[in-house]
Amino acid sequence: MPASQAAKTFQKLFLQICPAVLCFAPFINAMSQMPLRTLIVGVDHRQTVSLNGQWHYLVEQPPARELYDDQGKVRDGGYAQNTRPNITSGPHNTEYDFADAPTLKVPGDWNSQDPTLFRFEGVVWYQRDFQFEPKPESRTFLHVGAANYRSFVWVNGKRICQHEGGFTPFDCEVTAAAHSGVNAVVIAVDSTRHKDDIPTVSYDWFNYGGITRDVSLVSVPEHFIDDYDIHLQHGSAFAAKDARTLSGYVHVQDAPAGTSVTLRVPEAGVTKTVSTDANGRAGFTAEASTLKLWSPTSPRLYRVSVASGADAITDDIGFRDIRVDGTKILLNGNPVFLQGANVHAEAPVRGGRVNTDEDVKNIFGMLHDLNANFARLCHYPHDERMERYADRDGIMLWSEIPLWQRISFDKSDVYDKAVEMLHEMIRRDRNKASVIFWSVSNETPNNPTRTKFLTDLANEARHTDPTRLITSALIGPRVAEDKISQDDPLMQALDVVGQNEYIGWYEGQPEEADRKVWTFSMNKPLIFSEFGAEAKFGNHGGNHDRWTEEQEANVYEHQFAMMRKIPQVRGVTPWVLMDFRSTTRNIPKLQDGYNRKGLFSEKMEKKKAFEVVRKAYKEHAIGKAE
Ligand code: GCU
Repeated sequence: MPASQAAKTFQKLFLQICPAVLCFAPFINAMSQMPLRTLIVGVDHRQTVSLNGQWHYLVEQPPARELYDDQGKVRDGGYAQNTRPNITSGPHNTEYDFADAPTLKVPGDWNSQDPTLFRFEGVVWYQRDFQFEPKPESRTFLHVGAANYRSFVWVNGKRICQHEGGFTPFDCEVTAAAHSGVNAVVIAVDSTRHKDDIPTVSYDWFNYGGITRDVSLVSVPEHFIDDYDIHLQHGSAFAAKDARTLSGYVHVQDAPAGTSVTLRVPEAGVTKTVSTDANGRAGFTAEASTLKLWSPTSPRLYRVSVASGADAITDDIGFRDIRVDGTKILLNGNPVFLQGANVHAEAPVRGGRVNTDEDVKNIFGMLHDLNANFARLCHYPHDERMERYADRDGIMLWSEIPLWQRISFDKSDVYDKAVEMLHEMIRRDRNKASVIFWSVSNETPNNPTRTKFLTDLANEARHTDPTRLITSALIGPRVAEDKISQDDPLMQALDVVGQNEYIGWYEGQPEEADRKVWTFSMNKPLIFSEFGAEAKFGNHGGNHDRWTEEQEANVYEHQFAMMRKIPQVRGVTPWVLMDFRSTTRNIPKLQDGYNRKGLFSEKMEKKKAFEVVRKAYKEHAIGKAE
């Protein structure tokens, strides 16, 4: 049951038990004020009113007293009220004015738009007006594709929701707060880092702040389809002859039990009508008369429509099966070898957070140049355009939540936050055939507290979506020795093991990779999920001259020679497709604020290492699918 549903149910129950509002009135008041967030799946396939465009903005220096009071609680009386100052007539009332403030493009991080904000980490207030005409028996939500890192939303001065996390969407109901005519929305985005955030205070990418993905208004009927999961039935084994059974569920928000739901996949000869249970959820299985499975060579998508009462949605969904068999990864029953690259959400050429069709097209163009069939979307959920493009293009994806290195694994509220982010990632993308892995973390310290946290999270991911494979990118053991034995107990909870290592860059010379003998205490499919070296494009020298294209290329030659000797290697993702901004990379003339391990420069220029990888992929010369 979605959190918002649970909160509503609890609220109703509470009011039944305690009708006399005297008891715990403040608590009821708090509950009623609690912003009930929902998450509407498939918004990009619904009729929406885009709120993208120029938003007024005001920068608030720490400690951001317009947003937080002395105790750190969110204030509703500050800039949130969007008050106009009495400039001429007095009496003096306030000292801000969105209407005459400069503007930022939404979607877009503030860092790459306003040079005075390039390194700013803190609170930026956004404001715009929007036209609204309430429709009878309908509800309207403000849909935000992502805002980094904390967001607080007011409409006409009334707080309607808040969200934590910089990479997943959220929806805030505006129905009660909006009126006919011109309305004002104010969003405060706080990109300040905190130890118990996810990611935590230090990470190797740029902290782009702001409303970084699309914003729209979406109106739906009173009872609407907010969630669905429509996939190829995932039995205990894959049998091609049975690969025509679809299964899953549709959830209709606030629908009474017995509400009818009809699923249609016309090109697969599927029409199926089912009814919701007491929680608004309707499970189904349906036999297709014919079904072409999704794969990289044939990324077949089907137009799916779901209708219930006054609501109807469509989506474009591919049907495929992914599972492991011993150390093999099977796509539709066939062993696959995944050859790809790590991709950060850094916009090629222009820089900043990826959020346009052009950005996405450029990234997939580089993957195609590489002969890739796979990409690790590191280290956080990317713009939904990436999964949509991969669905159409036939590129398989690793999707990950940003539990990067030293997270506060000892805190239960951090675990709850991780579960929320995991659910938001899975809920948005569970109908995307291209996503084959959910990853719960990257390079976390091997200790019992972390292993329990991530084992529980991996099991939560598997419970939430039993049709995909669960993975994580491990680091260590130290690779200085020739014998490298990986016995991280987290592997127990994974279907596929990701292994990061930097032989030839952080450890030793490239040729040392030739002597390495890896052993893994778990016999599972292995992806070398990070390896590589830094090189500034155009910087040339010998095979051992660090920071040159030649040294980077030499690292790849010896890395691949090492990997060929490890039978359970079923995939590789070099670190990284393209140079990307990072506040931790500050060697002048070589890094200048960029992590330079790209196969491409940030201007999409190919380094020598690109050719080594492209050729190895073309010749399938790194590992075997079985
Ligand atoms: C780490 C980490 C990456 C980082 C990379 C590097 O393995 O996972 O996020 O950018 O190494 O040091 O370049």
